[in-house]
Amino acid sequence: MAAVLMDGKWLSEQLTQKQAQRVKELQEKGKTVTLSVVLVGDNPASQTYVRNKQLACEKLGILGSTVLLPGDISQQELENKLDMLCADESIDGVLLQLPLPKGLDEASALMHIPPEKDVDGFHTYNQGALFSGADGVVACTPKGVMYMLKTYGVPLSGKHAVVVGRSNIVGKPAALLLLQENCTVTVCHSRTEDLPSFTRQADILVAAVGKAGMITADMVKEGAAVVDVGINRVDGKLCGDVDFDAVKEKAGWISPVPGGVGKMTVAMLMENVIDAAEKRMTK
Ligand code: GUN
Repeated sequence: MAAVLMDGKWLSEQLTQKQAQRVKELQEKGKTVTLSVVLVGDNPASQTYVRNKQLACEKLGILGSTVLLPGDISQQELENKLDMLCADESIDGVLLQLPLPKGLDEASALMHIPPEKDVDGFHTYNQGALFSGADGVVACTPKGVMYMLKTYGVPLSGKHAVVVGRSNIVGKPAALLLLQENCTVTVCHSRTEDLPSFTRQADILVAAVGKAGMITADMVKEGAAVVDVGINRVDGKLCGDVDFDAVKEKAGWISPVPGGVGKMTVAMLMENVIDAAEKRMTK
């Protein structure tokens, strides 16, 4: 394999030790770090993600609780529940697992989690903070992407980063974070004409499209850092947006699926929860 493997599993395990220490120090000061995860409906992928978040909490000594709500809940009931959880002084972070079932307004619901408890960084205040370079909570997946690139020593300043995908959760914040690191950033999406002509220019390529294996070796520049944010299921098997076996022979760095960005997302969520708890303690 030519490329260096950006190992999210290993990286997150390194972080676990430091995070557990921070949780312990808070505990010694009488503060139990607490996360409340809200899951609406019975989307199987969401159930898996929520279970992983819960397990990560347990590993660190964070008190995690999952609130299960029926898929046919009304907008009003959901928002009342979020208001109630956020008003609870013992809870440091509240997370609403997305996507919500059809008919529910995600943007409206997310505004019911105040910025200081918004450990996902999805509140418009936190999005705005990222936009303007101010202090705020950064969304977990793009934060994990940056942590990975920096830890593996991928040169960023002055390099061309191409982000494929323009979601509020990944593509847009990833583009802003790369810009903060002085990358020249191009954002591509489903309407981009001649996508390969852009991806081939990328020193850093972030694939967040949700189409299994769509980034093929001929779309990648020799020596590029390729970050695969995709989580797709093909014949029951988890795979990313990148044709890993072929691209690893051409890239300089590559993240696998599973064991790549997904692990970093959970690790950064834990980081955001502990940060929120520490901030509340010093208030
Ligand atoms: N659905 C997919 N990714 C995420 C995430 O990072 N946070 C939440 N809340 N929902 C998601």
